[in-house]
Amino acid sequence: MNAALVSEGLAVAQTTILESPLQTDWLSRGQQAVMNTYQHFPVVLEKGEGCYLWDIQGKRYLDFVSGIAVNSLGHAHPALTEALATQCAQLMHCSNLYWNTPQIELAETLTEASGFAQVFFCNSGAESIEAALKLARKYSVSRYNEQRTQVIAMQNSFHGRTYGAMSLTGQGKYHAGYAPLVPDIVHVPINNLEALNAAISEQTCAIVIEPIQGEGGIKLANPDYLKVIRSICDEQDILLIFDEVQTGIGRTGKLFAFEWTGVRPDIITLAKGLGGGFPIGAMMASAKVAPSFNPGDHASTFGGNPLACTAAKVVLNVLLEQDGLLNVMEQGAYLSQKLTALKVKYPEKIVDVRGMKFMQGIEFSQPVAPIVEKCMAQGLLVVGAGPNVIRLVPPLIATEAHIDEALAILESALSEN
Ligand SMILES: Cc1ncc(COP(=O)(O)O)c(C=O)c1O
Repeated sequence: MNAALVSEGLAVAQTTILESPLQTDWLSRGQQAVMNTYQHFPVVLEKGEGCYLWDIQGKRYLDFVSGIAVNSLGHAHPALTEALATQCAQLMHCSNLYWNTPQIELAETLTEASGFAQVFFCNSGAESIEAALKLARKYSVSRYNEQRTQVIAMQNSFHGRTYGAMSLTGQGKYHAGYAPLVPDIVHVPINNLEALNAAISEQTCAIVIEPIQGEGGIKLANPDYLKVIRSICDEQDILLIFDEVQTGIGRTGKLFAFEWTGVRPDIITLAKGLGGGFPIGAMMASAKVAPSFNPGDHASTFGGNPLACTAAKVVLNVLLEQDGLLNVMEQGAYLSQKLTALKVKYPEKIVDVRGMKFMQGIEFSQPVAPIVEKCMAQGLLVVGAGPNVIRLVPPLIATEAHIDEALAILESALSEN
């Protein structure tokens, strides 16, 4: 089993999961026609409802992956499907040559809820990172000099697969075969001020960090460390960028993880849960930084598309107006409590349990691939985050009963292992 692939929610085909001739046929057609960048589980999913998914054989799965922290309202949420159907019939796409009302409304909701001045819309996490990198360099170069372009990122971080985002990602395995990378990016160990201070120079324009490293194994940035970074950035006019593609939009119980830290970044990136399954990304910036972009500086054909913005409006409405965040707070605390109890019960197998609310990691003393597969065979989807960590990122609507069901399957898979 390739641990790096499992960490991305992907896995080599295993014979433990039963395949019908129907499913086998789809798998071979997929392998034939789809480019070979993923090592899928041998399962073809067909429909979803609430916190459950069904494959084409009719097998049901409790979904604690949520499309890797994407399906914030679960599957087929009535408010989301209804709003999208209505918007589809009204206006699916128009260019950013023109305004559309869902985009303006979403920008207003996001800026009001976050305190950032303005938003740039795009389609994915990597694209939001690209926008942040470009905005930061534009700010720094236009305000100082052409050489002030250095960006400091964290070792073990993950920011996406496009060239800028990949270069920013602090894991060598994602760079292999793709040199030369985007220049002027250095990586330092997280929560290590000495290393950060040593890396900062007169050419530093931005520091990029995930409040909780997701793909990197659910590792939390220390709030005190973030506070010191904030003051360094303030003193030297370096821009602080939080990548909240995974932590944002309610996953940690607040709309944004930065709200827990006491530190406000200059730029924030969002995607994943924002559209509840509909692709959308966003990059927001403070009033100091946002005006560095002028017409023509950056663009995306689909960015701020009315359909995507409609989806995000529904997600935010459920989280902000319909007690969605309260559910994450309450059930996230319950999940964390249950995981702590599991660790106490299996001290030899479980090394650590960490995370916040609905973004939890369980670190094992062994590779987790066999446990992930056993869970799947028993009808629970979970995803790795590094070779030894299982990540639990359920839909934000998950209830105590879902958590009990997930933990019962996880424990059964654990005790078999
Ligand atoms: C923190 C973080 N940033 C960026 C990305 C890239 O997002 P996308 O896959 O939508 O490009 C991810 C994806 O896992 C992520 O977790």
